[in-house]
Amino acid sequence: MTGTPGTSRGNWGSRIGFILAAVGSAVGLGNIWKFPYITGVYGGGAFVLVYLGCILIVGVPIMVAELIIGSKSQKNPVGAFRKLRSEKSPWQLTGWLGVAAGFIILSFYSVVAGRSMAYIFKAIKGFTGSANEIQSQYTVFLGDSALSILWHTIFMGLTIAIVIRGIQMGIERWSKILMPALVLILLGLSFYGIFFTTGGIKALSFLFKPNFSQLSAEGVLSAMGHAFFTLSLGMGAMITYGSYLGKKINYAKTAATICLLDTAIALFAGIAIFSLVFQYNVEPSVGPGLIFSTLPVLFAQTGPIISVSFFLLLTFAALTSAISLLEVVVSYFIDERGWSRTRSTLLLGGAIYLLGILAAIDNLKVPFRGKPQPFFDIFDFITTNYMLPVGGLLICVFVGWVMKEKLPPGGSKSAAFFYRTVMFILRYLTPIAVIIIILHGLEII
Ligand code: PHE
Repeated sequence: MTGTPGTSRGNWGSRIGFILAAVGSAVGLGNIWKFPYITGVYGGGAFVLVYLGCILIVGVPIMVAELIIGSKSQKNPVGAFRKLRSEKSPWQLTGWLGVAAGFIILSFYSVVAGRSMAYIFKAIKGFTGSANEIQSQYTVFLGDSALSILWHTIFMGLTIAIVIRGIQMGIERWSKILMPALVLILLGLSFYGIFFTTGGIKALSFLFKPNFSQLSAEGVLSAMGHAFFTLSLGMGAMITYGSYLGKKINYAKTAATICLLDTAIALFAGIAIFSLVFQYNVEPSVGPGLIFSTLPVLFAQTGPIISVSFFLLLTFAALTSAISLLEVVVSYFIDERGWSRTRSTLLLGGAIYLLGILAAIDNLKVPFRGKPQPFFDIFDFITTNYMLPVGGLLICVFVGWVMKEKLPPGGSKSAAFFYRTVMFILRYLTPIAVIIIILHGLEII
């Protein structure tokens, strides 16, 4: 995406350039920080199985739908529905919901990303002490709100600085080097986990041996919410990125590639982290601090090169996702409100930053669903479990039942078969699955 959408809309240079940016958006804290910790919280294998099912039945088809909306309309998420229907069409509310979700998600995302940046410096100093000591350092860090706000400020500043300039020049080039590096380190850590720790086998059975008695209705809802979150779906990020695509792409194949890469990276992160969790007898369900409290125990032995690169790459992965979140919000104000890129990035980025301060203060709690909870958890719960799935549902109904998108001409027989299958799932299975899971999560059914 070059230049300023609306004034001079750019296109991706190549299919691979687009795939990298889309994978850059999808692969982020969701894969390495969130997937392992929610898998721990919701009990392992059965949760993973539902999550994988959601990637197939919900993730791939909605990714196809978002790419179709983006590339047909060449617009931001609100403008896209206006263009494909009419200026006054109520469908644009779907776009609005997405812009709002992007706004809230980025506010807490930046807090975790900031912590990951802080850990780069902790890693440079080196992690020392016993496993218990290293783990308790995180608790101390979490309680220090000023520090969390400081790192949130730095990370948001960086995100704003990049989005102001338009993204592709730097980020696209760097993605090509840094994303593969992240994958290599993760592969290395997970092989280490399987073959050289005593927790490897337990980790594999925790992740892949389903025990459905452990799975709650909230677990199922979270598995689906996470499928949306990790693939950047339900809020128009892929509509926005798709809007810079030429109209001739194989939607189904492209979506499948992105989903496959994203899922593989999450699973490897899970293996790496749970091997350590079981080796050191840490509680798998500690929650959001899992990666910051367990990995450093290993890093105390591997030395700073691995640990510094890990947190550096994690921060980078978070940055390429944060950019796509901010881009959704910013592109709306540029396209539809005629603001300049600088103005919308500064104002909206600034507002998101302010909201994020609430999320950075861990001991500021308000009652939510029966108990006092930090804003961080509330923002995460509402956006991931409700806003993204509802947005995704609307997107899916729109493409499956309103646009009734026909098979793009050309292409092989197998591509046509794949496309038709995905479209069938999108029309019939995806909406039913999303509705059932939301109602089940609300304990209505
Ligand atoms: N997919 C990103 C991650 O896994 C987060 C994200 C969600 C980015 C929604 C854009 C839109 O970290």
